[in-house]
Amino acid sequence: MTAFTLAHLSDPHLAPLPQPKPSELFGKRVLGYLNWHRNRKHRQSRAFADALVTDIKTQHPDHIAVTGDLVNIGLDTEFAAARDWLRSLGQPHDVSLVPGNHDAYVRETYPRCAAQWLDYMRGDGADTQTQLAFPYLRKRGPLVLIGASTAVPTPPFMATGTLGQPQLAVLERVLSQTANNSFRVLLIHHPLRAKHWHKRLTDAAALLDILRRYGAELILHGHDHKHSLMWLDGPARQIPAVGVPSTSAAIGGKHDAAAYNLFRVAHESDAWRCDWSVRGYSEARDGITELRTQRLI
Ligand SMILES: [Fe+2]
Ligand SMILES: [Fe+2]
Repeated sequence: MTAFTLAHLSDPHLAPLPQPKPSELFGKRVLGYLNWHRNRKHRQSRAFADALVTDIKTQHPDHIAVTGDLVNIGLDTEFAAARDWLRSLGQPHDVSLVPGNHDAYVRETYPRCAAQWLDYMRGDGADTQTQLAFPYLRKRGPLVLIGASTAVPTPPFMATGTLGQPQLAVLERVLSQTANNSFRVLLIHHPLRAKHWHKRLTDAAALLDILRRYGAELILHGHDHKHSLMWLDGPARQIPAVGVPSTSAAIGGKHDAAAYNLFRVAHESDAWRCDWSVRGYSEARDGITELRTQRLI
């Protein structure tokens, strides 16, 4: 069986930040706007993001997963630019998106990002009139992609995420029903273990409990802007949870430079095999190269 290739990128925080109208600069946005001009604009490079997307295309993935934080302070102009960027990645059938906390930066505008990006977050079988519903399910090759949303507006200085009981109930049902016959990939913006209290997934314990009982084959997340691999408890074996740096991160910034993950999934001898490689910026090579490769499953 030929392998199915899934690319994973996250947290583009697309640059440049459009100039907000005075009426748009209120509440948490003021802090975000100042933070962009003091810090983030020096670290987030559209040129890096564009080069990374060009490199992804050379790898011809069967599908692309994007785990949130497309924008910075939730401006309507950012949502429109992010929609164009999603289109540059591929058609909605070939790209699956879950939102991040920056996409829900402002309570008033979050529904409008959903409207702009809905095609990339719609589950199989949902018609075009269907409104946003998480978690969504998409079957692509041997994969069942499960897209959960942890994007909730939070007060200034907080970057937490929350699934909520309705999503947890559906996740429990879906993961129990799809065990044994699919390669289940959970897409979620927040990692399930947080280093910082103000950036945590508030109901991570409930999701970890569901995963312990019903498992998943792979979890993809963003939010931390760094290379990471965690192993979580599952019913039969440990579950790999993989993070990735920001798609736009310039070299020499606070976090790891821009990179993306590639997973090659195949069913061999009655078992799943998943090989993971990371491609990203290497200062030594002054360009994009393979940074690591290993067998995950
Ligand atoms: Fe982020
Ligand atoms: Fe985030």
